[in-house]
Amino acid sequence: MNYIFNKKINGLIHGGDYNPEQWLDEPDILKKDIEYMKEAGINEATLGVFSWAMYEPKEGEFHFEWLKQIMDNLYENGIYTILATPTGARPVWMDTKYPEVMRVDNMGNRNRHGFRHNHCLSSEVFREKARIIDRKLVETVGNHPGLLMWHISNEFGGECYCDLCKKKFQQYLYKRYDGDIDKLNHEWWSTFWSARYSSFDEIEPPYRNGQFAVLGLNLDWKRFTTQNFCDYISVEIDTIRRYSDRELPVTTNFMKRFWDIDYRELSKKIDVISWDSYPAFHNDKETFADTMLENAFDHALLRGLKPDKPFMLMESTPSQVNWMEFNKLKRPGVNKLCAAQAVACGSDTVQYFQWRKSRGALEQFHGAVIDHLGTNDTRVFKEVAETGRFLSKIGEVEGSVTNNKVAVIFEWENWWAIEAAFAFAGQTKKYDETCISYWKTLMALGIDADVISVNDVSDKYKLVIAPMLYQLTEKAASLLTEYVEQGGILLGTYMMGYVNENCLCYQGGFPGSGLNKLFGVISEEIDPLYPSDRNGISLTLDSDANVNMTTSLTVKDYAEILRVNDAEVLGIYTEDFYKDSPAFTVKKAGKGKAYYQAARCDEASLTELLEFILKSEEITHEKLAAGIEKHTRCSDDYAYTFYLNNSDKECELSNIEGENLVTGEQFTGCVKLMPRESIVLKSKLL
Ligand code: GLA
Ligand code: ZN
Repeated sequence: MNYIFNKKINGLIHGGDYNPEQWLDEPDILKKDIEYMKEAGINEATLGVFSWAMYEPKEGEFHFEWLKQIMDNLYENGIYTILATPTGARPVWMDTKYPEVMRVDNMGNRNRHGFRHNHCLSSEVFREKARIIDRKLVETVGNHPGLLMWHISNEFGGECYCDLCKKKFQQYLYKRYDGDIDKLNHEWWSTFWSARYSSFDEIEPPYRNGQFAVLGLNLDWKRFTTQNFCDYISVEIDTIRRYSDRELPVTTNFMKRFWDIDYRELSKKIDVISWDSYPAFHNDKETFADTMLENAFDHALLRGLKPDKPFMLMESTPSQVNWMEFNKLKRPGVNKLCAAQAVACGSDTVQYFQWRKSRGALEQFHGAVIDHLGTNDTRVFKEVAETGRFLSKIGEVEGSVTNNKVAVIFEWENWWAIEAAFAFAGQTKKYDETCISYWKTLMALGIDADVISVNDVSDKYKLVIAPMLYQLTEKAASLLTEYVEQGGILLGTYMMGYVNENCLCYQGGFPGSGLNKLFGVISEEIDPLYPSDRNGISLTLDSDANVNMTTSLTVKDYAEILRVNDAEVLGIYTEDFYKDSPAFTVKKAGKGKAYYQAARCDEASLTELLEFILKSEEITHEKLAAGIEKHTRCSDDYAYTFYLNNSDKECELSNIEGENLVTGEQFTGCVKLMPRESIVLKSKLL
C-alpha cells in the first residue's frame, strides 16, 4: 500500500481550488463556503495558486494574515489545505522593475506585463523572487497542522527565447556534445544547407524567423526546455525542503499528454503525480464513451509516471470550462462518473477547479461548485455533494494500485520527432491518437493497459505494444530485444525505428538498431495514403494457429512495403502494386515473439488484429459490451473492480462477483448498470 498522505486523511480526497482572497471583504461568503464545503463532503482546499500579489503587494512587503486565518478556519472544520506556491502569476511591480522576468517569444519579441504562466525561468531575478516568497510561506504556515502538501506553481508550459535562455541552451549543448562542435555538427547533420556551426555561442534557439530546419536543433531545444523546467522546479522544491521541518509531499499539476514538456523527466522531481483533466465532453465529433476512454488513456499515461503509487486528479470542472470553442455543460451524472473513472484508474483524489466562481475577470463564467447564484440547491452543487457521498463510501481503495499485464508505449521525444519530420502526411501522422486507439481497443477487449516508456518495458508485461516508435534509441532497441528474448510478446508497427535519438536515419534497414533482426523484416518503403484511400490485409493463417480468423482487415493512412527475412507472414496486402506482399508478420525470438504490423488499420480491423494476438498468446481477455469501461485496483488483500457505463443504454454485466462497495450488497451473476452509472466490486485476492 502506498498512501500519498500517510493516512492523514482516512479515505479519498474530495476538494479543489479555493480562492478566498477574492472575497476577503465579504465574510458572509467565506462563512457560507465552509458550511457548503462540509455539506458537499469536501475535505481539502487548494489555496494560494495565484496569490502572489496579495502576499507581496509591494516588493519586500508581506501579508499572510489572511492565509493563516483561512487555513485555521478550514482546519477547524475538518478541511485540509494543499498549498500552492504562488509563482503561477507575477505581481505587476516585478515586471515593471525587472523586465528580464518577462518571456521573449519565438520571433524575439519580449512580452509586456500580463496574463500568467509566462515567466522566463532562466532569469535569476525571477528565481530569487520565487525563493523569497516560498521561504516566507514555509516559515509562516509550513507547520500548520492542516497543511497536507505543497503544490509548486501551476501548469508549467511554454518556452522563452530570450538571451538568458539562449545562453543556457548553448551551455546545455556544450555539455551534451562534450564541448565538441564537430560532434554537434555531425549529430545535427548540419552540412545540409550550410548550417554548420564553428562554436557553441553561434547557436540560437529555433526562432520562427531563424534556423528551424535543423531537426536535431529543434529536438534539443525541446529537451533543453524540459530540462530548464526541471532545473527551475528544483529551485522551488529545494527552498521548501530547506526551510521546512516536515517532509510533506510535493507535486505540480500536469496536463494530460502535454506537448511542451517531457513529463517523464519533470516527474522525477516531484513526489506525487497530479493532473488537470478537462475533456471536451458531449462534442459533435465522437461519442461520449470515446471522450471518456481518451480521458482514461490520459489517466493511465499520468499514472505510469509513478506506477507504484496513486496519483491525484488535481483539477476538473464540476460543470463547464470557459476556454473551449463550445463550453458545454457536463450532463447529469457525468461528474460522478468522471470521479469514479479517476479513482478506478488509480487516483486517490477528486478535485475541482474551482470551489466558487469569481465575480469578475477572465474565468468568471468557468464552472464551479458554487456559482453566482450562491446557493447549495443547484444541480451542480447537488451532483458534487452526491459525488462526495460516493467517494466517502469507497474510501478504502485509498493506497491501492493497478497491476496490469499489457502496456502501450508512449514517448514524448518520439512524439516531437514524428511531428517535426518533414515527411509522410501532415494530417495523418497522429502519433498520440494512434497510441490512444490501441489503448481503447484493448479496453473494448476487457484489457486495462498501462501506458509506459520503452525504458519501463519489463517481464511484468505479457504483451507490449509499441505504436509508431519512429525515434528509437539504441538502449530502447536492446530493451525491447531482451524483453522478447526473455518471453515477452511485442507488437511493433509501421514507422518504427526510422531515426535515432538525434533524428538521424538508421542505415541498413528500418526498424534500425538491430530491430529488423528481431522482427525478421525490413521496411523498405512507406506509402502515405490519402484519407479516402483504402487497402486491405488478407490473413494467411496456417492450420496450427489456435485462432480462426477469416476476416480481411481494412488499411488506411499508412502502408509499408516489407522485405521479409526470417519472419512468418500472417497477412498480405490485397490491393495496389504491393498486392500480395507481406503486411503482418511474426517471428519467434528466444522465448518470446515479435509481431510486426506494417499498415494502419481502421478501428474494427484493429480490434480483430489485437484479438488475434491475444488469443494466439493465450492472454486472458473478455470483450466488454459497447461503452463499458473496466479497471481494477489492488490492495494487499483485495481487488477493487470498477465498471463504468459510458454508453447511453442500460447495460447488463454478467459473471460478476464481489461486494458492492457502496451498498455492501454481495453480487454473483448479473448486474444492470444504467447509463453513466458505475459500480465498484470488492473481492478477496487469492
Ligand atoms: C487550469 C488552471 C486553472 C484554471 C483552469 C480552467 O487547469 O490550472 O487555474 O485556469 O485551467 O479550466
Ligand atoms: Zn528566457
